[in-house]
Amino acid sequence: MGDDDVELEARLAEQDVFEPSEAFVEQANVADDAIYEEFEENWPECWQAAADLLSWDDDYDTVLDDSNPPFYEWFTGGELNASANCLDRHLDERGDEAAIEWVGEPVEEDDRTYTYAELHREVNEFAAALRDLGVGEDDVVTMYMPMIPELPIAMLACARIGAPHSVVFAGFSADALATRMNAADSEYLITCDGYYRRGDPLDHLQKANEGLAGVDHEVEATVVVDRLGPNGDGFGHDLKGTQHDYGDLVAANQGAEVDPVARDAEDMLFLMYTSGTTGQPKGVKHTTGGYLSWAAWTSQAVLDIEPDDTYFCSADIGWITGHSYIVYGPLALGTTTVMYEGTPDHPDKDRLWQIVDEYEATQLYTAPTAIRAFMKWGSEYPERHDLSSLRLLGTVGEPINPRAWKWYYKHIGNEQCPIVDTWWQTETGGMMVTTLPGVKDMKPGSAGPPLPGVDARIVDTEGEEVGAGRAGYLTVQKPWPGMLRTLYRNDERYIEEYWAEYSDTDSDDPDEWVYFPEDGAKIDDDGYITVLGRVDDVINVSGHRLGTMEIESAIVGVEGVAEAAVVGGDHEVKGEAVYAYVITEEGHAGDDDLRERIVAGVENAIGPIARPEQVIFTPELPKTRSGKIMRRLLEDIANGEELGDTSTLRNPEIVEEIRVQVQD
Ligand code: WT7
Repeated sequence: MGDDDVELEARLAEQDVFEPSEAFVEQANVADDAIYEEFEENWPECWQAAADLLSWDDDYDTVLDDSNPPFYEWFTGGELNASANCLDRHLDERGDEAAIEWVGEPVEEDDRTYTYAELHREVNEFAAALRDLGVGEDDVVTMYMPMIPELPIAMLACARIGAPHSVVFAGFSADALATRMNAADSEYLITCDGYYRRGDPLDHLQKANEGLAGVDHEVEATVVVDRLGPNGDGFGHDLKGTQHDYGDLVAANQGAEVDPVARDAEDMLFLMYTSGTTGQPKGVKHTTGGYLSWAAWTSQAVLDIEPDDTYFCSADIGWITGHSYIVYGPLALGTTTVMYEGTPDHPDKDRLWQIVDEYEATQLYTAPTAIRAFMKWGSEYPERHDLSSLRLLGTVGEPINPRAWKWYYKHIGNEQCPIVDTWWQTETGGMMVTTLPGVKDMKPGSAGPPLPGVDARIVDTEGEEVGAGRAGYLTVQKPWPGMLRTLYRNDERYIEEYWAEYSDTDSDDPDEWVYFPEDGAKIDDDGYITVLGRVDDVINVSGHRLGTMEIESAIVGVEGVAEAAVVGGDHEVKGEAVYAYVITEEGHAGDDDLRERIVAGVENAIGPIARPEQVIFTPELPKTRSGKIMRRLLEDIANGEELGDTSTLRNPEIVEEIRVQVQD
């Protein structure tokens, strides 16, 4: 530990409440505490404030239609287009201002700025091209792309013609791509030849092509962006048949204008697949009016975004954070959004600070896993740069421990920037629990109170509210505009996954319906919520959600494996890491060869993010007398913790055997 850290420790360690600076409060978008009461009294009409941030082609009649819970509808009767809201309406005032600052991997020095006028132009041209390819309203277009500008361009082009997008994280495997295209019956794919990772070109089209081979219906067209130029020629890809070059398509449509299609507020804007308890990913459906107003309102109220800002979120657009807080929220507000390709430690561990410095970023929104890595690398990296442009910091994705919070506060924010620790999910569309930075004090480790108008409560297994300090389950007891509307083509699973636990599912009374996000949490006397983590079989690796079942089925698919159980174990940087307990088949040794094949099997089925940290071979798994695997015990073993009562096990002796192996 450096002297610096010692000093920080001493001064900040004891402090558990932090006030936002006066300078911040004075300019904050929301600075009046009265908003909490106002929204409560005026619910659901209070959400007109969110809808008012958008431009509507046709006014809505009703704020909330809750006649058929949990199939809530927001801003019904209204019509709007998301692309027009993110582009066209800014042209007069901000046409020459930067919409996207793209920071490419520093291979070719090819950072790009898109002004609103330029972005509008390219979105129009690509929208025209998509139409020519046959994409119609409501056709789901899949995007399998890394952090290149053509990704948000493609998203906005789809939004313009009313075609919902389904973005698949580029780090996911070919199999994962095929599963998602199949689940959505998606007949169009937009991808690229490759991209750079730590300076080296990576063949992405090969993975995309493998994925396409696993699609069980006809694919009408694939569009390929040439990201690598001559550096990609070595991969030897030829586009044939229904594959088209993005650059050619845009050039052929030069100057084209496409009228934004007026979409019903409740029409689908996009699908996003996320991991759940079962092996099959869930297709979360988000709408045009509710989602976009939620993304815009939270961007303004929580991230304090104003048009003149240069806002930087370091997430990947392949996840919901990037959808809501790189693309839709910031662009709806007409600000400059920074997107970067690559990783925070290449070419050096000051990559993010170099970007903040160069672009004079005013906000930084990142994840606790990144902050823990920065902390480990040391404060000399941020100290190389001028970070004084920053006004606000944010985190998302997993709980942040107070030590990491304080490091972020001091070394990045210079004790001047409020930190918003934002709890939300793919399903919520945007932020739900966090401090309003100009209004509330901050408590490191606790996300904060629910946002105004959000009715989040902590309950016990019976659904009764628990008192301050006691652990319980986080619930949301009233609908909100940004909420998912259903799981795509699976209303039944939507009810089962999110509502069945605490609702009277036979009732038409919305008060009887309670949303359950499957997180544990506790609340303090001031109403601040501390999120404790998932209570289902989902683990959170570096802020990314992975279903243990998905990983288990990948492992069981490897030759020589009989059974597998996957749990999350604590990890210093990643938060949680994958621990796989594996039983081999008769005649197969639990050796390094099998271990390697298991790791490869998981990478092929899901992607490198799901790679097991440890593969532990065991003759048996600890099971209850009824045959259920005792995951808790496996977690305790992974974490080297004291083991609780094992007497209910059918095979208690196995526990010690496994433990010895993990410790080796
Ligand atoms: C799960 C949602 C929200 C976008 C990124 C992840 C966990 C998220 C926090 C936070 C504690 C958090 C929860 C949640 N989570 N933010 N600030 N504090 N936990 O989206 O992949 O849908 O995952 O991430 O467990 O349920 P996601």
